[in-house]
Amino acid sequence: MITTDYLVIGSGIAGLTFSVKIAEKFPERKIVVVTKANEDESNTKYAQGGVAVVLDKVQDSFKKHIKDTLIAGDGLCKEDVVKLVVKEGPERLEELLLWGANFDVNSSGEFDLGKEGGHSEYRVVHHKDITGYEIERALLKRVHQLPNITILAHHFAIDLVTNHHIKDHESENLTCFGAYVFNQKTGDIFTIKANSTLLASGGIGCVYGHTTNPVIATGDGIAMAYRAKARIKDMEFVQFHPTALYEEKGESSFLISEAVRGFGAYLRNKKGYRFMPDYDKRAELASRDIVSQSIDSELKKSGEPHVYLDCTHLDIDAFKDHFPNIYKKCLEHHINIETDWIPVIPASHYLCGGIKVSKKGKTTIDNLFACGECTRTGLHGANRLASNSLLEALVYAHNIFKHHSKKEYKSTDLIIPDWNDEGTTIPEEHILIQHNLKQLQALMRNYVGIVRSNKRLKRAIKHLDLIYNEVEDLYKESKITTSLCELRNMVNVSHLIIRQSLDRKENKGGYYNVDNVKNNEGV
Ligand code: FAD
Ligand code: SIN
Repeated sequence: MITTDYLVIGSGIAGLTFSVKIAEKFPERKIVVVTKANEDESNTKYAQGGVAVVLDKVQDSFKKHIKDTLIAGDGLCKEDVVKLVVKEGPERLEELLLWGANFDVNSSGEFDLGKEGGHSEYRVVHHKDITGYEIERALLKRVHQLPNITILAHHFAIDLVTNHHIKDHESENLTCFGAYVFNQKTGDIFTIKANSTLLASGGIGCVYGHTTNPVIATGDGIAMAYRAKARIKDMEFVQFHPTALYEEKGESSFLISEAVRGFGAYLRNKKGYRFMPDYDKRAELASRDIVSQSIDSELKKSGEPHVYLDCTHLDIDAFKDHFPNIYKKCLEHHINIETDWIPVIPASHYLCGGIKVSKKGKTTIDNLFACGECTRTGLHGANRLASNSLLEALVYAHNIFKHHSKKEYKSTDLIIPDWNDEGTTIPEEHILIQHNLKQLQALMRNYVGIVRSNKRLKRAIKHLDLIYNEVEDLYKESKITTSLCELRNMVNVSHLIIRQSLDRKENKGGYYNVDNVKNNEGV
């Protein structure tokens, strides 16, 4: 067993920002970060567009960013949270700069601000088209300078430890005491006992198979919190990014940043028709729920597998300078953006809901905090405004840090039982895990996608129950493996998405159910 003051699960922007802040302020306190892959592997690393921050006080204002966020969230954002996050942006960005992150500047030495869907002004601070990579690099560099932070890479958090695990303490206030962790290299499972635990475990994209997210995005933190009985909210609001690169075979999709549309690219159907002005007066720069739903509608009308993003009319040298990675990736796919249109398709990208947290990042379980994409803060409502996610993680990591600066969490004397895997055996049926995973992803894609219906959702629940039973049986009889735990977590997350979708009776933002159309008309 390891004991620590703080256990942080996840090494993306949320987990690392909190760790750095606590470690700098309290050099005597110990922080253990567990992360299930290489230390930099995260959704953060792949962020392209940038961080939305109001820096231009002439054209832009907090008021405009707040308004854009509220419009994108379609009436379901918590306004006080939106104001808090937007107004803190400049200070949090300043800290990132102090930690060594670099962002592009223009010829006058000012930040080169980009624009994305739903933004009325240029306000997206970026590092070329690899902003997340740069942020992750700078944060990890700072972490390595701080001796009171230990990063345990290739360590998978299996479950939170709560009163339920401790004899005679089931009836006490629901409290978290750390987590059971699986060392993926040795196969050992041990307890990390912590005074305070932070879930910073990121998103769920892989539940859909076709996603912009890397393979780590399997919703582990949300599933762990759900099993520990924390409140989970707004799971129906899965955000589909409109423009993932279409690949005939592969599942995982490279993102063509929304900033490319901010740069002037057009969406066209196969006939070459620029269709977005028919759907929204902001055309390609409507918020991404609208653009994704419009593409979905075009594809259903035409039967084509994808639409196109046309950059051929743009200043190609400027494009190459701003989006070198996208340019290179397209060339690797034999697409020369100077002459060719890029085939694109919506793909699951971001979860607006998650573990319900207060402004201090508190979950509904004592001593358990959550930050970043695994949370539901109320900032995004029914649809996240582009580039507000990195910002949210920075602001909430700071809030959680502030709370811990005022309140010190004490260690418990309770005896935490070791992980018990008596009677389990090494799973021989790896094929079963793969098979169930494929089935799960297909059912989420086909029945719980951009456009839903009650019939499809109910069918999804029925199919999911079969997968659930098979996976639970496998889990009970098998020794832990990462792929089995991830599958189990994805089943839990899918259940939450489907159930909460069925509970939503009105279409909002990224949630569209054909059976709700008449309910919306009545509003
Ligand atoms: P992550 O960065 O995903 O980190 C989660 C961490 O938890 C990882 O280290 C992971 O390995 C670890 N983990 C997960 N489960 C476990 C477990 N069981 N045990 C141990 N460790 C675990 N947002 C913007 O604001 N601007 C953008 O331009 C932007 N572009 C994007 C582009 C792409 C392609 C993608 C995928 C997302 C983009 N987003 C963007 C969204 C944004 O990147 C993420 O929402 C944000 O980075 C999430 O940060 P996080 O720290 O919460 O999670
Ligand atoms: C993008 O660059 O299009 C992604 C931005 C985001 O998800 O906020």
